[in-house]
Amino acid sequence: MNVLVTGVAGFIGSNFVYYYLSNHPDISVIGLDNLSYAGNLDNLSFIPREQKERFSFIKADITDTDQIQMVFEEYPVDGVINMAAETHVDRSIHDPHPFLKTNILGTFVLLEAARRSWLKKGIWKKEVKFLQVSTDEVYGSLGPTGFFTETSPLDPHSPYSASKASADHIVRAYHDTYGLPVNITRCSNNYGPYQFPEKLIPLTVNNALHHLQIPVYGDGKQVRDWLYVEDHCRAIDLVFGKGLSGGLYNIGGNNEQENITIVKLVLSRLKDLTGDKRINDDLITFVKDRAGHDRRYAIDASKIRRELGWRHIVLFEEGIDRTVRWYLDHQDWTAKVISGEYFDFYKKIYQLN
Ligand code: NAD
Ligand code: TYD
Repeated sequence: MNVLVTGVAGFIGSNFVYYYLSNHPDISVIGLDNLSYAGNLDNLSFIPREQKERFSFIKADITDTDQIQMVFEEYPVDGVINMAAETHVDRSIHDPHPFLKTNILGTFVLLEAARRSWLKKGIWKKEVKFLQVSTDEVYGSLGPTGFFTETSPLDPHSPYSASKASADHIVRAYHDTYGLPVNITRCSNNYGPYQFPEKLIPLTVNNALHHLQIPVYGDGKQVRDWLYVEDHCRAIDLVFGKGLSGGLYNIGGNNEQENITIVKLVLSRLKDLTGDKRINDDLITFVKDRAGHDRRYAIDASKIRRELGWRHIVLFEEGIDRTVRWYLDHQDWTAKVISGEYFDFYKKIYQLN
């Protein structure tokens, strides 16, 4: 089977490629990415030699109809896993346009190219599948209790989550209208290697290592459900392989943590590992809250557990330890990805707070 995976040079994409190639010797991956600020080809440089012949990379933009059509003509694509997206909420607040373009239009372009190609090749409804990697953020915000289930209403608040919710609706429409075999996964916050250092955990590590302040939004008591990225990759693999056509699956770590707890935990691990006494809670700075900030996310993942036997494997303390060690050992990686455009972005965002 030949699977087109988009967004492969990003955080989850690169982790997924390693996971997928290692676990499926029968599968070839056509990896696609437009190498935006968040996409880095170096992230894929550790594919083992014996797996390399099952991986090809295409630099292309999912919003470019001609490029995407050509991919479907030139490669034997019989499955799509769409992870390509603009993903940072703060960026979406400052400039929603690329979010609406990539996340909505891009998803449509891929769906339409897949539909036409699979109809033309006569492999419609046989072994083909389109999986949309979505997020729990489409459900909006919870109060102090309760969980998002697959039947929770969509109630997005940021341009990012609204664009992801829109894409989910379009994917669903392709299933209901054309019978395209689709799945949608909605996962909680991921952490692990290769996450761009604009996101909370790698930002905390990087700032702390440079003794810079750690900006915590509002009171820091917002709650996220954190999942180690490899557990998410395994869930995507399971849903893609075994999920019922049209099926929607929530994925979460049953691991709710306040942001301030996460920051303190990361600082404490980092201090222990480096012995640097300047890395401590004094670096924490409470700054103006994010506009429209969702208070709490919590996922009920019982459907994927029941139907597909998935459960998270990596315990939180273990995952945080692995993650902090990875960033400590890969400071050259961080330095490289944050050079250039990121400096301007950082200044713009945090000056406003
Ligand atoms: P990321 O920002 O690290 O990576 C996104 C990748 O998509 C980058 O490599 C980027 O270059 C690429 N991309 C962006 N626009 C593109 C375009 N127009 N054409 C082709 N490629 C393009 O994001 P991530 O955290 O790896 O997220 C991957 C997917 O998982 C996204 O769809 C996101 O919504 C979803 N998701 C992420 C999380 C999380 O916590 N990170 C949780 C749930 C769902
Ligand atoms: P983030 O990693 O941006 O993921 P998301 O917004 O998709 O959940 O943020 C995680 C949480 O951390 C979120 O509640 C916002 C908060 N946060 C801060 O308090 N300070 C920061 O500098 C960042 C980037 C995030």
